[in-house]
Amino acid sequence: MKKISLLAALLLAYVANAQDVPEKYRPQFHFSPKAHWMNDPNGMLFHNGTYHLFYQYYPEAKIWGPMHWGHATSKDMVHWKEQPIALYPDNLGYIFSGSAVADVNNTSGFGKDGKTPLVAIFTHHNPVLEKQKTGRHEYQSIAYSLDDGVTWTKYSGNPVLPNPGITDFRDPKVRWYEPQKKWIMTLATKDRITFYSSPDLKSWSKESEFGADAGAHGGVWECPDLLPLTHEGKQVWLLIVNINPGGPNKGSAGQYFLGDFDGKTFTAYSKETKWLDWGADNYAAVTFSNTGNRSLLMGWMSNWQYANQVPTDPWRSANTISRELGLKTVGKELYLTSVPARELESIKGEGYSKKNLTVKAPVDLAPKGGNASGLFRLDLKTATAGDFELVLSNKTGNELLIGYDKASNQYYIDRSKSGKIDFEAGFGQKHTAPRLSKDGKIALTLVADVASVELFADGGLTVMTDIFFADTPLSDLTIKSAKGIQVEEVQYHVLKPSIE
Ligand code: FRU
Repeated sequence: MKKISLLAALLLAYVANAQDVPEKYRPQFHFSPKAHWMNDPNGMLFHNGTYHLFYQYYPEAKIWGPMHWGHATSKDMVHWKEQPIALYPDNLGYIFSGSAVADVNNTSGFGKDGKTPLVAIFTHHNPVLEKQKTGRHEYQSIAYSLDDGVTWTKYSGNPVLPNPGITDFRDPKVRWYEPQKKWIMTLATKDRITFYSSPDLKSWSKESEFGADAGAHGGVWECPDLLPLTHEGKQVWLLIVNINPGGPNKGSAGQYFLGDFDGKTFTAYSKETKWLDWGADNYAAVTFSNTGNRSLLMGWMSNWQYANQVPTDPWRSANTISRELGLKTVGKELYLTSVPARELESIKGEGYSKKNLTVKAPVDLAPKGGNASGLFRLDLKTATAGDFELVLSNKTGNELLIGYDKASNQYYIDRSKSGKIDFEAGFGQKHTAPRLSKDGKIALTLVADVASVELFADGGLTVMTDIFFADTPLSDLTIKSAKGIQVEEVQYHVLKPSIE
C-alpha cells in the first residue's frame, strides 16, 4: 500500500515538473508580451477601427528596468498583435505611464495634410536626477504619430509640464473637455490628483487639486483617470485613482470616486473610497480613449507585491480582459459596475445551459467529457443569497476556491492551495470582498484563463481579479454548498485561445 502511494506521489511530482516548461502559465486570451517584463497599460486608444494598447515594457529582462512603451493592436480587445516598441527611453529619462489621444481638431499643430495626429502624453522619469535626490525627476512630455500609431516622434519642446518640486509627479491621463474646448490632464501627484488644462497639449496650466483629504492613503497615488458616465440621463464623473500599496487585499489596487467636474474642479459626492476591483491583481486600470459612449477599462493583472517574482517564463505579466463600465444605485449609494466587454463573445466555444440545480454535495459543472484547457466563462444565478463555493481543480491536487459567505456577506477567492505560491510570502492567501448588492439572488460571471480568474458579481457591483499558478490546468469545476443552495440557471462556455 505504502509503495503504491509513494509511486503515485513520484508520478504526480513528475507530471507537475514535466509541466515546468516555458510558456506553462501563458494566458490564452489575455494580452501578455511574448517575452520580457510588462507593467501598466498605457495610451489605450481606439482609432480608425483599431484598439491600441501601449504598456510599460522592459525589453531586456523579465524584471522591471528602464521603461519603454511596448505596443499591441487589436480589432476587438481580445485578439492582440504585438507591434514594434513605440517609445524608447532618451536623455530626458525612462518612458513612464501615460495616455494617448486622437487630436482630431489638430490643436497641437502636429497634423499634416489632413492627417489626424495621435498624441501620447507620458511621464519622463529621469534616473540621474532621481539619484541626485532633486525631487524633480518626473515631468510630462509628449510624442506624436502621423501614421496611425505605427511610429512616434517625440516633441522637441519636451518636457511640456516641468516638475514644480513634487517627488511623485506622474501618469498623465488626458481627455478633451468639449464644453470649454480644452484638454484636461489628470495627474497623480503623490497623495492627491492635480488637474491641468491646455489648449494645444503643449502648454499646461494648473486648474485644481483633489484628494489630499479623501479616499485611501495607504500608499502613493498613481495612474488616475477621469471620465464622464451617464446615469439615468444625468452625467456623473468617475475619477479612478490607483494606489500602491494600500489595496483592500494588500498591495496595489484601484479606488474610485464619483462626482461632478466643471472643467476646473472635481467635487466628489463622498470622500470615502470605493474599490474598482477587490482582488489582488488589477492595477493601473484606466480606460481606452476615443470610444464614444462606451467606457472600457483594462488593468495590469499583477501586484507590485510580487510582480517581479511570479514564476512565468519568458515573459512577466498579462492584462485583465477589457471591461465595460456602468453605474448602479444600491439604496442611496451610487456605485461603478464593470462587466466583461461584449467582445469576449468572439471566443465563446461549446457550452451548455442548465436550469434548476439543487446543490448540496459537490455538483460537477465542467461539460461532459471535460474541458482540458480550463478556459471558460461561467454565468450562474442562485435562487437565494446563500453560501456556496466553486472549486476549480486538477488531478495534481491544486484547488482555487471562489465563493460567497453569507455570515460575513462576502465573496472570496482563496488561492492558498492553487499551485505554486512560495515565490512570495503573501501570495497564497484568501481575498475577500463585500457583497454590495441587496438583491435576493446572486448572479455572477466567472472568466477563467490558464493563470487567472475574474469574478463579476451582481452585475459587476463586486469585482475580483486574482492570478494563480496551478501545476496543470484547473480543468475541473464543481459547485458545493454546506447548507444547500438552489441554482436557478447556470451557463458554461469554453473560451478559445486568442493569443498570437
Ligand atoms: C504604476 C507605476 C507608475 C509608473 C510606472 C513605472 O505601476 O509605478 O506610477 O509610471 O508604474 O513603470
